[in-house]
Amino acid sequence: MSNYSLNAVPTHIAFIIDGNGRWAKRRGLSRSLGHKAGFNNLKKIVKLCFEIGIRYVSIYAFSTENWNRPEKEIEGLKEIFLQYFNADKFIEDYPDVKVNIMGEYSKFGEDFKAIADDVIARTNDRDKYILNVGVNYSGKDEIVYAVNRMIGDGVTRVDRSTIDNYIYTSGQPEPDLIIRTSGEQRLSNFMLWQCAYSELYFPKTLWPDFKKKELLKALDVYSKRNRRFGQIKEEE
Ligand code: IPE
Ligand code: IPE
Ligand code: MG
Repeated sequence: MSNYSLNAVPTHIAFIIDGNGRWAKRRGLSRSLGHKAGFNNLKKIVKLCFEIGIRYVSIYAFSTENWNRPEKEIEGLKEIFLQYFNADKFIEDYPDVKVNIMGEYSKFGEDFKAIADDVIARTNDRDKYILNVGVNYSGKDEIVYAVNRMIGDGVTRVDRSTIDNYIYTSGQPEPDLIIRTSGEQRLSNFMLWQCAYSELYFPKTLWPDFKKKELLKALDVYSKRNRRFGQIKEEE
C-alpha cells in the first residue's frame, strides 16, 4: 500500500514526456543527451507512481510523427529504448510490472523487436501493475489497428466496449490524469480513444526537471478537480 497521504490517487496516469530537446539546448547539449536525461528521470517517476499505488502508467515515448526528426536523434532514442526495455534490467527495476508496448514497434528494427518481444513475454504473467509505452504510437493509428483486427475477427457490429476490447489498452481503465510537460497544451495524437474523460494537466517544467515534488503537486491538483462525467453533483 501507499505511504503517501494523498486524496483521490488516480488509478491510471499518463505522461506525454515533452521538453527533452529544450532542456538540452539550454545546457548547450545535444538533443540525444536531453533524451538520456529524460529517460533517467522517467525511470524514477514511473517507479514512484507505482510506489504511490497507481496501478496503470502510460508513457508517450515516440510518436508516428517523430520519424520526421533527424536520423541521429532517432538513432539516439533507439539506443535508449534498447537499454530501457532490456528484460533483465527491466524485471529488476520494476518488480511486479507488466509491460505493454503500444504501437508498431517493429519499425525500430529486428534488434529492437527482439528486445521488446522478450520483455513483453517475460513480464506477461505479472498483474499488479501495468506500464504502457507508446513506441511508434499514434492514437488515430490505434483506432485503425483496432478496426482492422475487428474486421479480421469477422466482427459485424461494434459498440464502445468492442472498441475498448481491441485497442492496445484492452481490459484497462482509461487514464484519469494525463500530464504533458514543457508547457505545450495539446495531446499530439496520444490515447485519443482513452482520453475522453481524462483530467489534463500542463506544467511548464521540461520533462527532465519533472521530479517527485512536481508529481506530488500534479496529484494534489488532480485531487481537487471536480470530475462530473456529465452529471450534476448534489453538493454544488
Ligand atoms: C521528448 O521531448 C519527446 C520525445 C520524442 C521523446 P522533445 O524531444 O519533443 O523535446 P522538445 O519539445 O524538442 O523540447
Ligand atoms: C509528443 O511530443 C510525442 C512524444 C512525447 C513522444 P512532440 O514534441 O513530438 O509533439 P509536438 O510535435 O510538439 O506536437
Ligand atoms: Mg517536443
